[in-house]
Amino acid sequence: MSHDTDAQGAAHQGHAKPPALEAASQALADPGSARPEADQAPAIRVRHLWHRYGNRDVLKDVSFEVGHGEIFGFIGPNGAGKTTTINIMATLLEPMAGRVEIDGIDVALDPDEVRRLIGYMPDHAGVYDRISVREYLEFFADAFRVADLAVVDAVIELTDLGNLQHRLVAALSKGMKQRLQLARILLHDPKVLILDEPASDLDPRARIEIRDLLLELKDLGKTVFLSSHILTELSDVCTSIGILEKGQLVIAGPIGEIGARLEAGAYAGASQGGAPTPMVSTRRLKLRVLGDARQVLPLLQGGGGVLGVEAGTGGQLTISHSGGDAFVADVVRHLVSQGVALVGVEPERNELERIFLEYTRGDLQ
Ligand SMILES: Nc1ncnc2c1ncn2[C@@H]1O[C@H](COP(=O)(O)OP(=O)(O)OP(=O)(O)O)[C@@H](O)[C@H]1O
Ligand SMILES: [Mg+2]
Repeated sequence: MSHDTDAQGAAHQGHAKPPALEAASQALADPGSARPEADQAPAIRVRHLWHRYGNRDVLKDVSFEVGHGEIFGFIGPNGAGKTTTINIMATLLEPMAGRVEIDGIDVALDPDEVRRLIGYMPDHAGVYDRISVREYLEFFADAFRVADLAVVDAVIELTDLGNLQHRLVAALSKGMKQRLQLARILLHDPKVLILDEPASDLDPRARIEIRDLLLELKDLGKTVFLSSHILTELSDVCTSIGILEKGQLVIAGPIGEIGARLEAGAYAGASQGGAPTPMVSTRRLKLRVLGDARQVLPLLQGGGGVLGVEAGTGGQLTISHSGGDAFVADVVRHLVSQGVALVGVEPERNELERIFLEYTRGDLQ
């Protein structure tokens, strides 16, 4: 089944609410005013979701929640079930068991209302390309029954497509087309954006542009749900993550909270379905010193929290350890007090990479 065409997207969202994007744009100057109220229901709630293709379960009891105003990264290797979950959230596929609610509305009971609430961007979406950027957006504004064409201007401004608005869609780069896709799904002013692999195949600059746009949308009070199989792709904008592996949710929650749980080494498994339980967390710290790194080894070996030290070329040292930030501070203080010319301190992995490696086995489904 393919849902990748524009026409289907338009049909989908054909009963859109009158937009309030202008208000949203004004709110850029005053982001606080556009923040959603403390709603009862979370922006997205997935409860005990199962899905099966043929006789194969591809989603197995997946449960998580995404709060309003969050940027949630749904991360998992190819075949983990991300698109299947997203297709259910976007009302393209009915859940076989379990419940999915968008802003408190059940996708199976009231799909029309859900479609008004969401802006859905499929992976590998095609775009009509023999028309200009502006014509493209005006066409979809019409399809979404957006009465006021000023909305198209607001969306063009927000997505920074002003200079390109008269260019043929066919002449856009991949990154620009991706921005155009985002512009399209903003026309009906959705509360929740559901983006399937929005940054895949983009070069670093285009990825940064998408990232900045997502942050702007967050400032407008939108909730953003995005999937990625590449961990680092948009990780720096995510406030929360969920990691899916072989149809099972391994862990989900705010990044800081998950990191703290790892730090405590006390996490006992996020789902009931046999998710791997992490071992005590091992972190790596890279240092660079002036001179021969090997001479520094004795100052570190055997220290509290140190699991191993290696000296490399160019004054590089890699310390495996079980400590947190306080450990890093202690090491730096110790080395400096011993007269070591320390010129670089770099935790080897970011928080998200660490979480990912701790919680997944990396097998493909
Ligand atoms: N229409 C379908 N019929 C049968 N099996 C399917 C269908 N769609 C997906 N699958 C299978 O379901 C599993 C989950 O697929 P899904 O597309 O949800 O994964 P994904 O996490 O989005 O992967 P990717 O990162 O490659 O996009 C895969 O094993 C896939 O082969
Ligand atoms: Mg997918």
